[in-house]
Amino acid sequence: MAKITKAVFPVAGMGTRFLPATKASPKEMMPVVDKPLIQHAVEEAVAAGMTEMIFVTGRGKRAIEDHFDTAYELETELTGRGKRELLSVVQNVIPRRVSCTYVRQPQALGLGHAILCAMPVVGNVPFAVVLADDLIDADPPALAQMAAVYKDAGCSVVAVQKIPRRQTRQYGIVETKRRAGARQRITGIVEKPDPRRAPSNLAVVGRYVLTPAIFRHLRRVKPGAGGEIQLTDGIASLLREEEVLACEFDGTRYDCGSKLGYLQANLAFAMKHPEVGPEFRNYMRKMGCRIRN
Ligand code: UTP
Repeated sequence: MAKITKAVFPVAGMGTRFLPATKASPKEMMPVVDKPLIQHAVEEAVAAGMTEMIFVTGRGKRAIEDHFDTAYELETELTGRGKRELLSVVQNVIPRRVSCTYVRQPQALGLGHAILCAMPVVGNVPFAVVLADDLIDADPPALAQMAAVYKDAGCSVVAVQKIPRRQTRQYGIVETKRRAGARQRITGIVEKPDPRRAPSNLAVVGRYVLTPAIFRHLRRVKPGAGGEIQLTDGIASLLREEEVLACEFDGTRYDCGSKLGYLQANLAFAMKHPEVGPEFRNYMRKMGCRIRN
């Protein structure tokens, strides 16, 4: 099976749940401790062997392009001050062999529409989609686990996670049929169903490996939930034609698109941060938290 080299990062959303923080700067640039969400996402794709990063951007997202670009003034300044370690942090935001391409989504018409905007750059090959606001702490990384499933099965793969049934209205929910081994074939998918009508408690999270056939299906999708072109509807159409598997990855996912999930991610990543972790854990103990070592 051909290796997946392209990863699409839709970053054109408005991030309204984080206003006013996202009024003038992108949600994807919000840091978890000291690294922006989008960098965590790119590092996951690179760790899964991908070398071509495709960002679907929109208004007010220039900071993302600058983040992955060379920062000459900053580098000169750090060199002049002899700050070698910081210089290396700045220079190693992305490995040199990895390319970045930016395409524009002129209007935030939904995740499905954002992915359609990437079609001219992706072309006719399978590709990954990573939503930076779903931060997944996993070893091996979630996308690497999915790439392994793709390598074995050669079809689209969607990351899923069990959620409490009362939360189904916040997610795309899949219906699956278990096949030989751990493989689960998706037989149905619906966006934000009522808990009483949800086909399961398996929720789609922001990682996908998709065959290029998805573009044909997305082009036919009419605006759905919230008036947006939903990726979920494109996948619902795709699975009538091709097999699509659900991958229940091993790892912890933080919904950094919500305030609570974002705070939880910062707490978890701060506790294991090489620089501030030990002191932060002490601080938490002083605050009365019981912390495992
Ligand atoms: P969200 O549903 O989290 O929307 O999008 P949002 O606009 O980013 O945030 P809120 O809900 O207003 O707070 C999920 C992912 O899809 C991207 C977002 O950037 C995010 O990564 N997206 C969404 C687009 O790129 N374009 C769109 O039209 C919609």
